[in-house]
Amino acid sequence: MAAHGPAQMMTARPGAALTGTAEVPGDKSISHRALILGALAVGETRITGLLEGADVLDTGRAMAAFGAQVERDGAGAWRVRGVGVGGFAEPEDVIDCGNSGTGVRLIMGAMASTPVTATFTGDASLRSRPMGRITDPLALLGARAVGRSGGRLPMTITGAADPLPVDYATPMASAQVKSAVLLAGLNAPGQTVVTERAATRDHTERMLRGFGAEVVSETVAEGFRITLTGRPELRPQVIAVPRDPSSAAFPVCAALIVPGSDVLVPNIGLNPTRAGLYASLQEMGADLVFENPREEGGEPVADLRARFSPDMKGIVVPPERAPAMIDEYPILSVVAAFAGGATVMAGVHELRVKESDRVDAMATGLRACGVRVDETEDGFTVHGRGAGGVAGGAKVAARLDHRIAMSFLICGMAAARPVTVDDAGPIATSFPGFVPLMTALGAQFSDES
Ligand code: S3P
Repeated sequence: MAAHGPAQMMTARPGAALTGTAEVPGDKSISHRALILGALAVGETRITGLLEGADVLDTGRAMAAFGAQVERDGAGAWRVRGVGVGGFAEPEDVIDCGNSGTGVRLIMGAMASTPVTATFTGDASLRSRPMGRITDPLALLGARAVGRSGGRLPMTITGAADPLPVDYATPMASAQVKSAVLLAGLNAPGQTVVTERAATRDHTERMLRGFGAEVVSETVAEGFRITLTGRPELRPQVIAVPRDPSSAAFPVCAALIVPGSDVLVPNIGLNPTRAGLYASLQEMGADLVFENPREEGGEPVADLRARFSPDMKGIVVPPERAPAMIDEYPILSVVAAFAGGATVMAGVHELRVKESDRVDAMATGLRACGVRVDETEDGFTVHGRGAGGVAGGAKVAARLDHRIAMSFLICGMAAARPVTVDDAGPIATSFPGFVPLMTALGAQFSDES
């Protein structure tokens, strides 16, 4: 999907307490990986709880274009019959990854060690994002890439006929870069090594092990090192995708700032490489309770209860926590606006190259809602106005970014006056049921388009 339909303007109004159970959809990161590794295994992988958001559906179509059989059995239930490591066929047409950086970058890695040629594109947001961070290490492995200026899509990649294993230190904290190199390394002989300064989400490593690959993760002087032994035979798996902590963040944070709220979000993934938001919220004084912690499908999960927390205080978010909450800064900045004092979020330059420049998008929108925000090159500080202290009454630009759109709709639920987002359409990329789910809890949204 290179573009979604006409803009869907939407307004959130302040209203009553939020109560009930919020069953958020499957984890986006794990869903992409389940489809891609399923396509690289020999035999049939069965997936339940797959996120059926546009991003993941685009990845499913891409896997079919590379020769896998991808079939839907029912809601969230999918089967992938893979072609084996090195077995990708050449797609007949352009691969359109829509809005998804994760999709395009992981797929580029997965095809880079097979001698086929594929052309990738996406929507206006994805076409503006840097791909050199992926094609640089893939070139070391022997893949060739030709794209637009600045390493942007559309881009054509020809995979290596004789791939070399690489030993690569990622220049930025990025699970997408790490994962692309590891996926490419699957069809290289010998050991592919990735070293990262800060540990990023490790779903690829966990899932590769589940499929039978040898993957060793260790702490080294430079940070974290992952070593993959190439050319495994990946065995098909049965995968239950946990619910997405990044999607859970929206009803949870809404409950914290809307007076009287009490919301339960069951069965959310709490992999430590993803749970940084919840640590930050607890430091701010949020009333969060993790019930029934357990492990499911190789990932830690729990049920999370969130209640209105009128006395939250601003904090300095430790920059080293950034990889574990990189997608949650937009919604954290909304919570920060309803806390007392300043919340400092530094060391997050990566936010500027997400689906939008998220530092600028949040700073601009929060200022329009009456909140003081100081912006630096690598982060921002939100000067909180305390519970009920945000004026609202603004129309903000979502910039084709699902998390910006959801963050400002949550803001509008607790502000003094409504907040309108110019386009709620992109929410469907990661959280297709967001509006009905929030409405069932008590949110007052109106479609203005
Ligand atoms: C993701 C990694 C992160 C994150 C994205 C999903 C993944 O991106 O922002 O939403 O699934 O690997 P980076 O690797 O660019 O930090």
